[in-house]
Formats: sequence, structure tokens, C-alpha cells
Amino acid sequence: MWEYTDKVMDHFLNPRNVGEVEDPDGVGEVGSLACGDALKLTFKLDKEGRIVDAKFKTFGCASAIASSSVLTELIKGKTLDEAMKVTNRDIAEYLGGLPEQKMHCSVMGQEALEAAIANYRGQMAAPHEQDHAERIVCTCFGVTDKEIERVIRENGLTTVEQVTNYCKAGGGCGGCHGEIEKIILSVQGDQVKEQALPPVRKGKKLTTIQKIQLIQQTINEQVRPALRAHGGNIELIDVEGDKVIIAFRGMCAQCKISEFTMKDVVEAKLREFVSEDLFVEEDKDSLDAQHAHKG
Ligand code: FES
Repeated sequence: MWEYTDKVMDHFLNPRNVGEVEDPDGVGEVGSLACGDALKLTFKLDKEGRIVDAKFKTFGCASAIASSSVLTELIKGKTLDEAMKVTNRDIAEYLGGLPEQKMHCSVMGQEALEAAIANYRGQMAAPHEQDHAERIVCTCFGVTDKEIERVIRENGLTTVEQVTNYCKAGGGCGGCHGEIEKIILSVQGDQVKEQALPPVRKGKKLTTIQKIQLIQQTINEQVRPALRAHGGNIELIDVEGDKVIIAFRGMCAQCKISEFTMKDVVEAKLREFVSEDLFVEEDKDSLDAQHAHKG
């Protein structure tokens, strides 16, 4: 028996918005009965282009029903651009979490939404399905390399088992496990190379490497441009638990209010984008150099 949260049970036992919207503006269907899960999402827009009604029909387990129900609640009142930002993680978070083996239900919700919006916009398929280079990796469940790559990137997955939990690939004969492992390695390689983040966001479940990447990204995007504008710069030296060690460069290294910059800018941004628990300290060696310069 799965451990479900009260929210999952509530949406499972009292699903909201079941059925089909009459004369819908967008229709999205994903999954197939052969694979055990299927979801059809329909929505209607009002004159301002906001989703005024959304309904679903699903064939699936308790978490598929709960995920679909929450999805309809989450997108009502949103414009399509706003709705496009709803991710499978939002669905799972709203439900207070899903068993990892059931995360594919939330992914199915996100895909149905994308398919319905693509349908409204006159596209043939959801954006991630339009790439002609896509190829089926898991023939048991008809899952493509792009779909696998996407769940790995968006959810920071590191094992074949997790990939199976999120998109079912690998859950049948096992013949595709080697391919899935290669995709995991290639995504991890990209992430290290680019020093860019998978779209992980501030949250409790960051791995150490994700946390460091998110810190680096926040510094690159939120802090460095402002310092550069004043002829300064900043470098990430190390991360020890919640302690982030940085060094100021250029004008910032000589600035009398670098202490202020560190606390009010760097620390505030890192707390906003990465974790409330972070605190920033200046690298001891560069501090010594500064004092020598100022003194
Ligand atoms: S091909 Fe993927 S599990 Fe069979």
C-alpha cells in the first residue's frame, strides 16, 4: 500500500473538475491505456485569455487522479503563458509529495497541459515532442530520448530507477536500461560543463551538487552583473555546508562597504534563490589582502 498524503487522498476521493469541458479551446491527451495510464485534459478560455474552466478524464491510480485534479485547480484563472510554467514538481508539491514511484503521474499532468496548450495554439504536439531527432528509447512504454532527458534535467534524477518512476521508461523488459544510463551521464556531463543548473529551484531536496550549481548560477545571474556595473566582481571560492565563501575582485575588493554588499546583496540573493539557511563569508586570504591594501 502506498503512503499517500491527506491532500492526495482528498483529491483522489473527491476529485475536482472531472469530465470534459463543453466546446473546449484546448484538448490534450497523453499516455495510453496499453501503458496503464491515460489522461485527457480540456480547457476553456475567457475573453481575457484566462483559463476559465478545465476538466480531466483519466485512467490511472489514486495519484494520477489526484495529480489531474490538482492540475485543473492550479491552472484555472491563469493565462496560457502562466499555465505553461506549472511543472510536475508544482503538482507534487501541492499534494504534499507523491511516492517517488508515482511521480510519473505528475509528469503526465504536465505533459497533458502542454499538449492542450499546443492544441489551442494550433501546434501538432507539445514543444518537446516536435523535435524530429527524437527516437524511442524504451519500446515497452514508447518513451523517447527527449522525454527521458527532460525528466532527468527537470527533476535532477540520477538513477535508472528514478527515471522509471518519473516517466515509466525502463519499467518493462529492462532492455533500455543501458541507454537510459547513457542519457543520465550525458545530462550530468552537460550540467557540469555548462555549470548551468537543471531547472531545480529553491527547495529542501537539493543535492549537494545541485546546491553548489544553484549558488553559482545565482551569483552569475543575480549578483555579478550589478558588481560589474561598478567595476567589481565576485568569485565563488567554496561551499561548506550552509557557509558560502566568496571573494570580491576589482573595485569591490577595495570597497569600504563590501561588508554591506556581502550581507545585503549576496546573502539576500542566495537566501532568496537557493536556501534560507545560507550565510556568506569572505575568503580569509582575500580579506587579508584587502586589509593590507586599505591599511
Ligand atoms: S525497452 Fe524499456 S523496459 Fe523494455
